Amino acid sequence: GRELLIAPSILSADFLRLGEQVREAAEAGADLFHLDMMDGHFVPNLTFGPPVVEGLQKLTSLPLEAHLMVLRPEIYLEDLASARMHRVTVHAEATTHLHYVLGKIGSLGMKAGVAISPATPVGMVEDVLDMIDLVLVMTVNPGFGGQSFITHSLKKVESMRTLLDRAGAAHVRLEVDGGIKAGNISRVADCGADTFVMGSAIFGEKPCETVFGEIRRALTS
Ligand code: DX5
Ligand code: ZN
Repeated sequence: GRELLIAPSILSADFLRLGEQVREAAEAGADLFHLDMMDGHFVPNLTFGPPVVEGLQKLTSLPLEAHLMVLRPEIYLEDLASARMHRVTVHAEATTHLHYVLGKIGSLGMKAGVAISPATPVGMVEDVLDMIDLVLVMTVNPGFGGQSFITHSLKKVESMRTLLDRAGAAHVRLEVDGGIKAGNISRVADCGADTFVMGSAIFGEKPCETVFGEIRRALTS
């Protein structure tokens, strides 16, 4: 199968020691970093924007992906490109013109992803597969870290895997985000996910080296 990637979400990090935590996660084996950007409109929470990204770029050479939980994502794309964002994932529900937004992300030299919330059907991505390199199946409702995994997501991830395989979209990664831990990651991987966002599990009480050890064991057993 394809390589499984772990994308720590810094949402659950201690922002007062963000640099230290990012370095620890990178050393423990992170493959990329997942940056949750929220505008208080698409979701009832606020986080950070492009200036924080510029800081993170100085700390790590790993790829950074933005998960935009904002309405009208198009207005932030130039700033994200200037901050050298590797990939920008937009919610299918957050823009009226998904095709246009994905085209704009590509024309700015970034990879594009499409996220779908729990009630959004997998078919939303079907007609834009040639414009993206990742689909994100949300396994909680977007907005907050530390929520529990929605069990129905297992079926949804399977349906998305089937859709991608039937479309011959081997270039598209299938990412999951929300409630992923060492205890459920292998079940989600069995359903066809290959990229795992993890926030509270990685930046919780346990040292992240310990958590990465548990993740590796879960995925190889
Ligand atoms: C939720 C965010 C997630 C969040 C995941 O809206 O998109 O990336 O940080 O956190 P955990 O892993 O704690 O569910
Ligand atoms: Zn996210």
